[in-house]
Amino acid sequence: MTNKINELNKRRRDALAGGGQARVESQHKKGKLTARERLHFLMDEGSFQEVGMLVTHRSVDFGMETEKYPGDGVVTGYGTINGRLVYVYSQDFTVFGGSLSETHAEKICKIMDMALKNGAPVVGLNDSGGARIQEGVVSLGGYADIFYRNTMASGVVPQISAIMGPCAGGAVYSPAITDFILMVENTSYMFVTGPNVVKTVTHEIVTSEELGGANTHASKSGVTHFACANEIEAIQHVKKLLSYMPQNCESIAPALPYDAQNELRPELDHLLPETALQPYDVREVIGHVIDEGGFLEVHKDFAENLVVGFARLAGRSIGVIANQPAFLAGVLDRHASVKGARFVRFCDSFNIPLLVFEDVPGFLPGTDQEWNAIITNGAKLLYAFCEATVPRVTVILRKAYGGAYDVMNSKHIGADMNYAWPTAEIAVMGAKGAAEIIFKREINSAADPESKWREKEQLYSETFANPYRAAERGFIDEVIEPAETRLKLINAFKMLENKVVNNPRKKHGNIPL
Ligand code: COA
Repeated sequence: MTNKINELNKRRRDALAGGGQARVESQHKKGKLTARERLHFLMDEGSFQEVGMLVTHRSVDFGMETEKYPGDGVVTGYGTINGRLVYVYSQDFTVFGGSLSETHAEKICKIMDMALKNGAPVVGLNDSGGARIQEGVVSLGGYADIFYRNTMASGVVPQISAIMGPCAGGAVYSPAITDFILMVENTSYMFVTGPNVVKTVTHEIVTSEELGGANTHASKSGVTHFACANEIEAIQHVKKLLSYMPQNCESIAPALPYDAQNELRPELDHLLPETALQPYDVREVIGHVIDEGGFLEVHKDFAENLVVGFARLAGRSIGVIANQPAFLAGVLDRHASVKGARFVRFCDSFNIPLLVFEDVPGFLPGTDQEWNAIITNGAKLLYAFCEATVPRVTVILRKAYGGAYDVMNSKHIGADMNYAWPTAEIAVMGAKGAAEIIFKREINSAADPESKWREKEQLYSETFANPYRAAERGFIDEVIEPAETRLKLINAFKMLENKVVNNPRKKHGNIPL
């Protein structure tokens, strides 16, 4: 018996050694943790249960039959994060560069299947040189098996991908299908083709970091939702993200205990600037309304004219979507629309109520926007709101102009409660532009066109630059003092707690992609 146990322990030790000490040191020299060190920081202490520790590859080409590492370059299993069940895989760069073999893929698929059956999130820690070159098409098949499962799991269990090293070629498409991507600055990159291929094909000279580093994808492409300064920060973000989510689409996110207190926030009465032309940071409004302990902003550096993220209100998890007047005057453009749509759809998939703060002067004009399909992209946000069945509440802070008024969770497209501050201006467009169009002849024929224009602008503004026309129609349920906002929202979301809406039965909708 002792011999048998000794053999088991030797096999276990071999697996724990990964690709060996030299490769572990090389990993550390690059400023990276190993696959197991990452799991140590991610999972609750002692909770991780490994699955498939002794799996080895089946490849016999290029002398591979003599080079085997138990685990085959990925550590898979389950455990808890903040006490809640999570399935996890962590690619081990010290074994064949974390490359994906047939068996490596099977291990990932196995825990994804378990996650789907048992209704718990999947977290992937990616650090891989891509398809195992020695294996050819079986490795590519392995990727496709993962992509298929990512798609089947989408909207059923939350899926999070942390990129902690290379992620190139086909490998990028698994993270891309998952709900959230986090990248680590300077040590991770994602691209379909690397700098060498880029140089050959387009003659561009670019570094890996410029082409597909964390900051590039956080600000230019929006591929990653978070750029983290280091791996520990990325791991902390994964934990925090999960805390706002339910385990699966059939459950709701855990609420923190909350005791009612004075919910009035008088600071909000003085937050907006004197004139509607001046910017302010909508994060300040969000900060005064939500529970203390912060706002987890998603896509912080991408399409900054729309702020989205997770927060808590009276202890309950909510998704916040807010126009940002401090950036491009809060206008909706194609990137902001896509960013918002994806966030709304995530929240709706996982029963997270939506809170919208609206201050939007409309959609961004211009050839760049039109030629890059602001029509199709803007429609994504509209569609996402229309089909969302979670509790939905809007607060119009200031501008709600034109089509953007409809899009930003208006009553007409299914919002449950629509509030407006007295500063709200709900109109087809800004008063200046409106006066120029509808009083054009009068302005042009006036002795002093400039002052006529101002007079008409004033008239339009007095007629429409307020929330009362919309309130008279019932498009706004209540005009509220800013200080009351938090109180009203707590009551509204409580009232909506058991909301049930069943959209028409269909195979699936056809969101304008
Ligand atoms: N298949 C098999 N082994 C791979 C691999 C792959 N796709 N990618 C890396 N490895 C192995 C290397 O042979 C090396 O093995 P060793 O430790 O026995 O020497 C080890 O992983 C580390 O790779 P190395 O190239 O030394 O690391 P690096 O940090 O300098 O570079 C990459 C990392 C990912 C840029 C580089 O390995 C690379 O270009 N890999 C191939 C990427 C690719 O084209 N993948 C296939 C298409 S998806």
